[in-house]
Amino acid sequence: MDKVVSGIRPTGNLHLGNYFGAVKSFVQMQTQYDCMFFIADWHSLTTHPKPEDIRQSARTILAEYLACGLEPERAPIYIQSDVPETLELYLYLNMNMYLGELERVTTFKEKARKQPDNVNAGLLTYPTLMAADILQHRAAYVPVGKDQEQNMEVARKCARRFNHIYGVEFFPEPQNFYFSEKALKVPGLDGSGKMGKSEGNCIYLRDDDKTITKKVMRAVTDSGPTEPNSPKPEVIENLFTFMRIASTDETYRYFDEKWNDCSIRYGDMKKQIAADLCATVAPIRERILEYSSDSARLDRIAAHGAEVARASAAATVQEVRHIIGFK
Ligand code: TYM
Repeated sequence: MDKVVSGIRPTGNLHLGNYFGAVKSFVQMQTQYDCMFFIADWHSLTTHPKPEDIRQSARTILAEYLACGLEPERAPIYIQSDVPETLELYLYLNMNMYLGELERVTTFKEKARKQPDNVNAGLLTYPTLMAADILQHRAAYVPVGKDQEQNMEVARKCARRFNHIYGVEFFPEPQNFYFSEKALKVPGLDGSGKMGKSEGNCIYLRDDDKTITKKVMRAVTDSGPTEPNSPKPEVIENLFTFMRIASTDETYRYFDEKWNDCSIRYGDMKKQIAADLCATVAPIRERILEYSSDSARLDRIAAHGAEVARASAAATVQEVRHIIGFK
């Protein structure tokens, strides 16, 4: 069965970008593939070098994964730093990556701009650590949102280059996986690009109905269409994107028609989006509270996940050593 792996950094609670961009796919994939999901706590050090309580932050994400519907008996869940085998592969992959190509990765350039006092080597080699996360399980598919496309390109490059240098067909080239027909970018509701922790524009899975509604009602709009069937400006397209991911097709079509005949009322549309998002989030929120309260259980799940992940990674690393020529 094809292998699948993906992860999320524990730099804050899960938001709708994480959920619709990634976790929803994890839940769907776990019944069809050989899946493992993890919490990328090492990656979070690239931006948060002195985390307050990184173990607890990882547990928080674990509880949120479970609340979203991940079943660890089916798809083990582990914490990245519990699998030291990853680091050996990271080292080998870094030996074959060049400064210039890593410097050209857009996320590196963005992060370097955002934290000019901390342009660390971990930030530069972020995509190789991500490649090690994936290649250590020789995964075929990686469910991710649109913002990870370039990192996935690097992961494929790492696989190809390793195979080429050592003359083997060892690593499969991992493919991005989307359930929707194309990569999803959950927009921010503030009129800016994407929803993201560092953008400060998130709706969290922990938000209550009132907070969600308030955030949606504040979403940026314009003065409305003046010509029938006109193209939608970005802020309006963003609202429709929310409707596409959270509402029924029928609801989407209804408001699309209203846009096209210029009778749309943004207030009604936002109320509808808020109601549909609340319906998705409320049961998850309740389960988060339930799962968070049992730390012992979370630790047991992470320990089991680590065991499975380490066995998988160790087998790969052993073969890699052999291929390179180490004993
Ligand atoms: P991170 O923690 O930034 O985000 C986790 C996942 O959520 C998706 N996502 C979004 N998707 C659509 N719209 C958005 N607004 C949005 N915001 C976040 C991301 O695309 C991602 O899938 N580098 C990764 C973590 C990682 C990883 C890996 C992923 C480390 N190693 C190996 C896959 C495989 C990251 O920073 O994700």
